[in-house]
Amino acid sequence: MAADNFDLISIPLRIRFQGKKLVDGRNVPWQDRASCSRFPGPRCAGPPNSIDSIQSAMPGLQREEATKHKADAAEFVPKKHELTVLRRAVQDCRGCELYRDATQAVFGERMEGAKTSRKAQIVMVGEQPGDKEDLAGHPFVGPAGKLLAQCMHEAGLDPGQVYITNAVKHFKWEPRGKIRLHKKPSVKEIRACKPWFDAELDAVQPRLIICLGATAAQSLLGAAFRVSQHRGEPQTAEGLPAVIATAHPASVLRARTDEERQQQKADFIADLHRANEFLQSI
Ligand code: URA
Ligand code: SF4
Repeated sequence: MAADNFDLISIPLRIRFQGKKLVDGRNVPWQDRASCSRFPGPRCAGPPNSIDSIQSAMPGLQREEATKHKADAAEFVPKKHELTVLRRAVQDCRGCELYRDATQAVFGERMEGAKTSRKAQIVMVGEQPGDKEDLAGHPFVGPAGKLLAQCMHEAGLDPGQVYITNAVKHFKWEPRGKIRLHKKPSVKEIRACKPWFDAELDAVQPRLIICLGATAAQSLLGAAFRVSQHRGEPQTAEGLPAVIATAHPASVLRARTDEERQQQKADFIADLHRANEFLQSI
């Protein structure tokens, strides 16, 4: 079955494995994790998170059952909503099937330069980790993150007051030649991952949430919400602090022409500036 797929992606994977990732405190080569169930073979033997180890712990379970994921993340979220506790626990989440093909879960964190003693006033939420974030284990460290940091700087938004995370914690992708191409998470996956965001919110208790893009905005404000119609406008939603939605920095990077990119970047900076002013006013 997977022979063609395997050949297709083995080259980039090998390159990536040269720098092994520290997962759950261990150096676990990517192809040794449960995610490799799509590519069976000797390279899948004996991993800490493998289906084999799950099956040996639960004798009698059929492979099919052992690989089944749960309906959502709720049962994997610790009762204690403390960021260090949550960040450790998310690595074991099987709330949807996205963990299978990702290197690790990418949890939220204070933006670089944050003084940890200061409380985060803002939670920024993106869609899901990208290729770079999946490998690094930190949110917004790739091209979109660099643009975001630059735009925040231009908008006068202090990264020291921001906790940044994603609506979905595992990278969803498909092989495209040598690269892992970002694939949009489904509504079901976004919903499945929501308990992690709720727990982060409870731990951080921000005064403002900034949604970067439609995935985050619709996850918090409902499927009918249109970022294009209400960007930069403070929204109220039950059980949440104020929410402001804007574009995703990756969409600015995807603009077709230089002119469009400059315009979209200016609009994005204007929204961040507005969000900052709103925060000062509440
Ligand atoms: N895009 C996102 O939505 N999140 C990241 O962490 C990186 C890129
Ligand atoms: Fe769990 Fe979210 Fe990862 Fe799905 S994407 S396995 S719900 S952490």
